[in-house]
Amino acid sequence: PARYTSALFTSHVPAIGAAMDLGKTEEPYWKKVFDGYRWTRKWARENTPDVVILVYNDHATAFDASIIPTFVLGTGAEYPVADEGYGPRPVPGVKGYPEFAAHLAQSIIQDDFDLTLVNEMVVDHGLTVPLSLVYGEVDEWPVRVIPLAVNVVQYPVPSGRRCYELGKALRRAIDKWDGEELNVQIWGTGGMSHQLQGPRAGLINKEWDNAFLDHLIVDPLGLTEWQHMEYVDEAGSEGIELVDWLIARGAMDDQFGGELPATNHRFYHVPASNTAVGHLVMSNPIGSLAPAAQQTGQTEPVRSSA
Ligand code: DHB
Ligand code: FE
Repeated sequence: PARYTSALFTSHVPAIGAAMDLGKTEEPYWKKVFDGYRWTRKWARENTPDVVILVYNDHATAFDASIIPTFVLGTGAEYPVADEGYGPRPVPGVKGYPEFAAHLAQSIIQDDFDLTLVNEMVVDHGLTVPLSLVYGEVDEWPVRVIPLAVNVVQYPVPSGRRCYELGKALRRAIDKWDGEELNVQIWGTGGMSHQLQGPRAGLINKEWDNAFLDHLIVDPLGLTEWQHMEYVDEAGSEGIELVDWLIARGAMDDQFGGELPATNHRFYHVPASNTAVGHLVMSNPIGSLAPAAQQTGQTEPVRSSA
């Protein structure tokens, strides 16, 4: 069996990775950012899962205009760190979990989500910066990672609602695993408000970002009504990355009639590079029954009587 224990949400600003790689984390500008992750690093050492399903977005690194998959599930054994123009970051390669990923693929695709399965791809800052923020400088990442990449770079992008529903399908899949005992975390990464291009470059919207965090915590279903143009208008053209977070949140116990998750940690800071940094750790209540498969797992289709 597998148990979805905690969700972690964070921005993935590439300059955060560069600050770590170049030894700048104690500089006043960056210290304010990293201080927001001190609680998390301790928590992460004490709550290391077996596997992280890491929802992120590729930035035209592994995929480009030649192929634009909406949802990619990484079913490979390992993922090399991408060269994004300055050589690959000096961080460990990422180890996957093909058996568990294959199970997730089977369940989610049969649950009517058309995933693209990818066995070989490089991973960019969207995936490695969250790992660095949480685990610091290590020789090896302490977890296996199943990448789940969402297209938010090339229109059309999926809606928040679709991401939330994929989260629910992901949870049904996790709850159906009958292999070895697994502690699973899902991370939602990207955002918060930022726009890197055009006349509005540099846009930050603190009020909107914090409203997003508030709703993510107490009203994720309501958040699914926010249309993609609202993300773009309010949080900038790259703020749309925030839909990635709804996959991790849609999979939590309370979205299946269980208890509200605890919010263990919340952090918000401006600026880091061109981006507002947002970060949350939330946990499903310990000991509550994993309710997903029981309540909304696949049931027999209702057949019309002919
Ligand atoms: C920046 C932020 C991002 O999310 C990204 O993918 C690239 C750059 C930035 O703040 O510069
Ligand atoms: Fe990004």
